[in-house]
Amino acid sequence: MPRGCSLRLRLLTLGSRKIVTQTSVDRRNILDGSRMTATWPIGRAARARTYLMCPPEFFAVDYAINPWMHPDEPADPGRAMAQWERLRAVYGGLGHTVRTIAPVPGLPDMVFAANGGCVIGGQALGARFRYPQRAAEAGAYSDWLAGHGYPVTPARAINEGEGDLVCTGRAVLAGHGFRSDPAAAAETAAVFGLPVISLLLTDPRFYHLDTALAVLDADTAAYYPAAFDEAGKAALASQFAELIEAKDEDAEVLGLNAVSDGRHVVLPEQATGLAAQLTAAGFEPIGVDLSELLKAGGGPKCCTLELREGRA
Ligand code: ARG
Repeated sequence: MPRGCSLRLRLLTLGSRKIVTQTSVDRRNILDGSRMTATWPIGRAARARTYLMCPPEFFAVDYAINPWMHPDEPADPGRAMAQWERLRAVYGGLGHTVRTIAPVPGLPDMVFAANGGCVIGGQALGARFRYPQRAAEAGAYSDWLAGHGYPVTPARAINEGEGDLVCTGRAVLAGHGFRSDPAAAAETAAVFGLPVISLLLTDPRFYHLDTALAVLDADTAAYYPAAFDEAGKAALASQFAELIEAKDEDAEVLGLNAVSDGRHVVLPEQATGLAAQLTAAGFEPIGVDLSELLKAGGGPKCCTLELREGRA
């Protein structure tokens, strides 16, 4: 074993099955040149990603469409931009490609790129927003995607993009209850040819699926159990070999609004307990401060739309 690696064998009990998983925590720089491959085959492996982001040039808390938004507590535009620039720099530093879409005046929530669509295997499902305040974002994102080589299927049912359509690599988890319609699940399955698992969200503070759940890799997710009903919790247990349960205080700073590349997990820096849980599970948490964007109910994941060329 290379120096600097610690290998832990862990026994997980999954129902009546017992499986042994191996987790390698490599303390050295795991990036091998630009190839983003781990230097040790066991453990959490990063894969280079392409993300679409939108600078918060016209960001403001002008209306309230979720419980986090209070127009009488305005956001600081300069700080919001600096926090967003830092997030973009973190992705760049991890070797990811970040593309940007031009912000549109009058669309203050357009910074939340995750809601602009869902892209898997080079194909896109366009978004369709629940509230009129965000409706025009759908066209702006669809135009960008179609113009950059991602054919877009327009949505019939309301779906708020990756905010509610979370790709696991094997399937898509489709959140509904506050924003996206349950009917978005069938459209998602038809466009991507992947199994889709519908999940009902039950707590208005966690109004998009990506505020209550983060896929860390195809077998691992972190989630906030109290945001789901019993059927949803059972469905998640059947999808993931490892589930990390976030505590109230981490969920309440939108700690689950996190972006994983398979190894590095970019999450709100206020979610310190969740960061410790991620480290214990062999991931590398990277905290970022997006406190200005939190005033609109958003975090790192909300600001990030993954452009997936492959299906996984
Ligand atoms: N203010 C925005 C809204 O309520 C925040 C969107 C957050 N996006 C997300 N992917 N969770 O629509």
